[in-house]
Amino acid sequence: MNSRNTLKVNAAGHLEIGGCDTLELAKEFGTPLYVYDEDYIRAMMRVFKNTINKDYDGHGKVLYASKAFSCLAMYRIAKQEGIGCDAVSGGELYTALKAGFNAADIYVHGNNKTYEELVQAVKAGVGGIVIDSYREADILDKIAAEYKVKQKVLIRVNPGVEAHTHAFVQTARTDSKFGFSFRDNTALEYTKHVLSLKNLELKGYHCHIGSQIFEKQSFSLAAQNMIEFMVAVKKEAGFEAEILNMGGGFGIYYTDEDPKFTESDYAEYLLTLIKTVKEKSKELNFRLPYLLIEPGRSIVGEAGITLYTVGSIKDIPGIRKYVAIDGGMFENPRYALYQSKYTVVKAADVNAANVQKVSIAGKCCESGDLIGVDLPLPEVESGDILAVLSTGAYHYSMASNYNRNFIPQAILVKDGKAETIIKKQTFEDLVRNDVIPDSLK
Ligand SMILES: Cc1ncc(COP(=O)(O)O)c(C=O)c1O
Repeated sequence: MNSRNTLKVNAAGHLEIGGCDTLELAKEFGTPLYVYDEDYIRAMMRVFKNTINKDYDGHGKVLYASKAFSCLAMYRIAKQEGIGCDAVSGGELYTALKAGFNAADIYVHGNNKTYEELVQAVKAGVGGIVIDSYREADILDKIAAEYKVKQKVLIRVNPGVEAHTHAFVQTARTDSKFGFSFRDNTALEYTKHVLSLKNLELKGYHCHIGSQIFEKQSFSLAAQNMIEFMVAVKKEAGFEAEILNMGGGFGIYYTDEDPKFTESDYAEYLLTLIKTVKEKSKELNFRLPYLLIEPGRSIVGEAGITLYTVGSIKDIPGIRKYVAIDGGMFENPRYALYQSKYTVVKAADVNAANVQKVSIAGKCCESGDLIGVDLPLPEVESGDILAVLSTGAYHYSMASNYNRNFIPQAILVKDGKAETIIKKQTFEDLVRNDVIPDSLK
């Protein structure tokens, strides 16, 4: 049912995750409920880490991409597995540090970091800041001077590779808010500028070519371009980059339209990238860079499922059947944003034959609030528990309190035990920051 077969059908025919019966989980914790399989997360962190250790002599590091799913427990797992992380906001950085993460293992991203976020990163002593504009470099230089540090930085480069994936999640086109193009001289000119700043220490370059990518060759092409670019910089600016950060983007299984990658497939995937880096560096006589990768979705995406209870069912004869669940775009905005596709199963009878196609509707006051249309399902009735698979990445992290709905609770399951990692919100949480000003009293 998922790539590593960690989702099971138990003897009663119910969906099981991390040794827990999903019907029991729904009863104990309520729905909607985010459920995360700890073993899955750890296994994926190890695949990437072990591949770098074995095939790149440990000359690199895995940075978990926080944006996929950020909470204290997730950083604790990453720390225990000996990997680093990235952070794209003050909030992610704060959470990672609060979880006990070593600041030197954190890299900070963002195309428009605020002054406060830059100060926070410098004060924390993060491993590196990926800079993305002249303004940012100049501000950071001043902040570093003020705090008397030489701040390590990487430059975000747009390697001009379009991975075959959904256009909305492309971030590396020339027409992109991210990065400096290596095709014209902009990345080189920016490099020269950064090298002229006394309080910044340029360590290398970063790129990210997109997300949900299955084309290995796109990573190889990007890596080749990056190394060619770094060779050109060495020649033109006399700067030899030490670090190459290739970003994230490895794809995962959502529906049968996607391949199911095993752990060895992911290792192979990374190995293709590693081989390219080695071959190209050797060919161009360039010192082998310290390699960083930033997988997010592939680490946590398939580790997560969301459980819902079916509410009203509206059958419009000859037009469409809507099955409404107690979640929606406030806890999963991905269909509304990207028309993302999912596999949905009936938790009480996973093997039941799909006999209908339905639209799964959320409870928000928006017609576009759907989890999907024309999804195959068995017979379902109000009160049934549905599980939407592969919801570990970019679900909780994209959730909101839209319509003043609660962001659901998240639990971690392992060996038949379930523990809360994000508590249920309360009505009080919803009004915590609301203020009635004196003028309205
Ligand atoms: C800079 C950067 N690194 C890493 C990632 C993680 O990508 P993924 O979750 O597809 O592995 C992203 C996602 O957009 C990103 O923008």
